[in-house]
Amino acid sequence: MDHALKGGKPENVRTDCLILPIGPERELGATAKKLDAISDGRITRALERGDLGRSLGRTLLLAEPAGLRTPRLLLVQSGKLPLDAAGFRKLVRSAVAAVVTTGATDATLCLDDVDVKDHDPSWCAAEAVMQASEETYRFHDYLSEPGEALQVNLHRFNLHQSAAGRAGIDRAIKDAVAIAGGVATARTLGNLPGNVCHPTYLAAEARKLGQGSKQLSVRILDEKQMKSLGMGAFLSVTAGTEQPAKLIVMEYRGGAQKAKPLVLVGKGITFDTGGISIKAGPGMDEMKFDMCGAASVFGTMQAVLAMELPLNVVALVAAAENMPSGSASRPGDIVRTMSGQTVEILNTDAEGRMVLCDTLTYAERYKPEAVVDIATLTGACVIALGNHASALYANDDELAAGLLGAGERSGDRAWRMPLWEDYQQQLRSNFADMANVGGREAGSVTAACFLSRYTRNYRWAHLDVAGSAWNTGTKKGATGRPVRLLVEWLRSHVG
Ligand code: BES
Ligand code: MN
Ligand code: ZN
Repeated sequence: MDHALKGGKPENVRTDCLILPIGPERELGATAKKLDAISDGRITRALERGDLGRSLGRTLLLAEPAGLRTPRLLLVQSGKLPLDAAGFRKLVRSAVAAVVTTGATDATLCLDDVDVKDHDPSWCAAEAVMQASEETYRFHDYLSEPGEALQVNLHRFNLHQSAAGRAGIDRAIKDAVAIAGGVATARTLGNLPGNVCHPTYLAAEARKLGQGSKQLSVRILDEKQMKSLGMGAFLSVTAGTEQPAKLIVMEYRGGAQKAKPLVLVGKGITFDTGGISIKAGPGMDEMKFDMCGAASVFGTMQAVLAMELPLNVVALVAAAENMPSGSASRPGDIVRTMSGQTVEILNTDAEGRMVLCDTLTYAERYKPEAVVDIATLTGACVIALGNHASALYANDDELAAGLLGAGERSGDRAWRMPLWEDYQQQLRSNFADMANVGGREAGSVTAACFLSRYTRNYRWAHLDVAGSAWNTGTKKGATGRPVRLLVEWLRSHVG
């Protein structure tokens, strides 16, 4: 989708659909008043009939308004002004959803009468672009005949602002396009089925991302290389599958030569059957989403590249498939990790932490400024926080605060959970340095505790995105979270 910022008189805007926010109690903003007068009271008459509704996001489509250069005028209820950020997001989403039901190929959102608390017009423009992109995202690669609901005529979504003062808005829109592109990539990688999106596919995606970029170099470690690094935990997960595992390394150099890199680590289990500790049948298809942490790392790197952030960022993707077979790991097996610590595999379904622990040890070689791993790690996380927040764990308060702030600002929120020593004892094993599971209680916490034993040498945070990375039920599909949080966090290191 294309985007541009338009200026000038609102009545002169040429567009397939003009989106006009309207406040409650029928009080019109300056621009709405003007358009109402030009169209002989078309807007006030509709409002007097009560056709718009008073709750935020209600819409009303007026066809062929007189005096305007648009065949469609879409009124959207803004509710009481000023809006908060969440309210503005909702307004844009509702308006775009309404436009998409029409034949309009381009739409223009008029920002004149909008007031969002603590946010300027460039924020509004950027946010509108990102929300429009998310609202019009579709995934129908495998449908022979995509139904009407999957088709989107809208190809251009513009912003209009009558007054001058456009400084910075164009740049904000450009960055928003980059972030929206990253979110869409994360969603698509997540939505692709496990028979297509396997570790080798992800490796090829990484190579594609690096192609033609001087700043991004890509390396793929195969199982042989992992073996010589001593990654016994990582390899225990891939033992049962025909799909070769990959440790994907993407190094982005946009910052100063000797600036320490920020490292992102993604769990990329392209399908998680549970292995010998096999999962129940119903809903197992959703375990194709078990690489959404990796997908968010890809999306974030794509955005970083497009925005040319002046930072050094390293992405490590632990890509493997967890399958049962004659060669699969058994419960009770003991493996040695790259760190030297041994692990008793009490449950082969706790595979995410097994691929991550060795990848986190690998991250030490970068002498990182900080490391953040992103993983659909535990079902317990979904029970704790649902799909509203990602669970955040960190061994450093400043790092935690930075990530929580980025989540708040982007609307892609996280909530901090404890990493207290008290939980560590749940990981005791009779036969190895630790077990890979800590029992039923506090499952998301003990998974994080496991990882914490491999991240003692640097500042580290862990995002359990099991609840936030995809939707279940009728809206089943990847959300692209936490790309927005991660990009916002990376941006906060610029300057
Ligand atoms: N990928 C799953 C976590 C998961 C399960 C995410 C359901 C979203 C929905 C992970 O590999 C897993 O299976 N975790 C186990 C850990 C347990 C064996 C300690 C879990 O959560 O049941
Ligand atoms: Mn599992
Ligand atoms: Zn898993």
